[in-house]
Amino acid sequence: MNHFLDIHTTDPAELRGIIDSAAAMKAARAGRPRGALDEAQPLRDHMVALIFEKPSTRTRVSFDVGVRQMGGQTMVLSGTDMQLGHGETIADTARVLSRYVDLIMIRTFEEATLLEMAEHATVPVINGLTNRTHPCQIMADVMTFEEHSGPIKGRRVVWSGDGNNVFASFAHAARQFDFDLVFTGPPPLDPEPALEGMYSIERDPAKAVQGADLVVTDTWVSMHDPQSARERRHNQLRGYQVNADLMAQAKPDALFMHCLPAHRDDEATSEVMDGPHSVIFDEAENRLHAQKAIMRWCLQR
Ligand code: CP
Ligand code: NVA
Repeated sequence: MNHFLDIHTTDPAELRGIIDSAAAMKAARAGRPRGALDEAQPLRDHMVALIFEKPSTRTRVSFDVGVRQMGGQTMVLSGTDMQLGHGETIADTARVLSRYVDLIMIRTFEEATLLEMAEHATVPVINGLTNRTHPCQIMADVMTFEEHSGPIKGRRVVWSGDGNNVFASFAHAARQFDFDLVFTGPPPLDPEPALEGMYSIERDPAKAVQGADLVVTDTWVSMHDPQSARERRHNQLRGYQVNADLMAQAKPDALFMHCLPAHRDDEATSEVMDGPHSVIFDEAENRLHAQKAIMRWCLQR
């Protein structure tokens, strides 16, 4: 069964096929109203469960709209409202949901929850973010990069900030799509050891971004991080803010990305977010197209 759990556990040729299919589906919809059905309706008569144990704007709306455009129906479920939040096991939840729906997307805390869901579900499961990874986001980011700047293979991508879940999926993508990834951030916020070998480290942000084709950052405090860490992280990360001075060290045509939601003028200045390098809203839009292609791939339709 085609679960979409992570980028490093999905075959590179399959990932490339998903990106190509996303681009084709996006082109086919150009200029059409958002609510219009796609010409082909691969999810017709299909029901999709979207489970959220954490807040979401983009993932929630883009999956919901994507399913509907492909002719399917959705139900959006909050973890706390389900018995899942009141002691029912993940395995039993997976078995039960598999009797009602054709596809499950889950945003959760522990990766173990996602993996247990996938192990016991008899329908495909998609990772909509865990504490460890965010693969759908990075599929949209690869698509966005290639739309603006051509093939990502061999290009220099620089991540400035916290070595978090979004970085981890970038590291997986660096291996699968064959680009160079540089991490710049303070040692206490280094990426997890399992990612070693997938990226290099340059502690000086100004040096790191030299020759960069893409500069990326993300929030300094993720949803799973304790709020008590906020002040310490701001102190640790202040020097890694993506501002106009930093972007000026990258290639003149470098792109700037942020998965959003952003804390403007913390991890990146509004000048950069709204400036000529920024493709942040294209990234957000491409969540829709990339995820539609991921769902088709999961269902092989
Ligand atoms: N980037 C992203 O996943 O956004 P949401 O948290 O709003 O879904
Ligand atoms: N790193 C962020 C990404 C949000 C889309 C978080 O996990 O909160």
